[in-house]
Amino acid sequence: MTDFRVQKTHSNKMELTQREYFRELMGNTPIPGSEILDNLGLFLKRQTLSRIIFMNELYKQIIDVHGVVMEFGVRWGQNLSLFHSFRGMYEPYNYNRKIIGFDTFTGFPEIHMNDGSESNEGDYSVTDNYEQYLDSVLAYHESESPLSHIKKYEIVKGDATETINQYLSAHPETIIAFAYFDFDIYSPTKKCLEAIKERVTKGSIIAFDELNHPGFPGETIALMEVFGLTKYRIRRSPLTPFCSYIVIE
Ligand SMILES: C[S@@+](CC[C@H](N)C(=O)[O-])C[C@H]1O[C@@H](n2cnc3c(N)ncnc32)[C@H](O)[C@@H]1O
Repeated sequence: MTDFRVQKTHSNKMELTQREYFRELMGNTPIPGSEILDNLGLFLKRQTLSRIIFMNELYKQIIDVHGVVMEFGVRWGQNLSLFHSFRGMYEPYNYNRKIIGFDTFTGFPEIHMNDGSESNEGDYSVTDNYEQYLDSVLAYHESESPLSHIKKYEIVKGDATETINQYLSAHPETIIAFAYFDFDIYSPTKKCLEAIKERVTKGSIIAFDELNHPGFPGETIALMEVFGLTKYRIRRSPLTPFCSYIVIE
């Protein structure tokens, strides 16, 4: 296992100390292994829970929209796992709702001048061969829902500025009901927005993790250049400060 590049944070020293303490509390839990999966809520901090509820709110909006779910920027894969569970909960027989995640799994491949000065090549990298571990996690989630013999997810490893068009050429039938953009940076966001623009339909949701974020200006610039900022209402939820989305109308 190699090192990975830690996530940037806006937390202050006191919050970081408290969280370190909480992580220790979690690591030293007396709850037996056989009961731990049913008690994970014990360790969800407010911000994480808010984010999960937000993802749930987005997913519920695309249940009557035909097409796949794509996440652009997967990292450890929490969102992909959540989307699997939402599909199992809300539309267990919709085996057409494939969930596809794009990531290098080695962090940012390059930085554009539109990304400002806070990002560096390799940021958000994960541990070696992480995509294999994630594949096992997603296979487990699939096994917990009906029609588990049909594989309904795909992890696409590599630079998405290249893999998005390769994926769409290999799957020309693709309609996208929900795209979650979390690359943070300009070039892959722009390239993937361009690639999916003609593959969304009325009611499709395109969501963003970093619009109007001073540390990641490239995401906003990419949206502005491909879809424009005035054509769609950029919606938000009180649950998270930065996440936002547009609904194709
Ligand atoms: C902020 S992280 C994603 C976090 C994740 N969505 C979550 O909610 O935990 C950004 C990810 O985008 C990926 N990424 C950035 N540029 C990319 C590119 N050109 N191709 C593929 N992945 C890229 C990075 O490897 C990183 O894992």
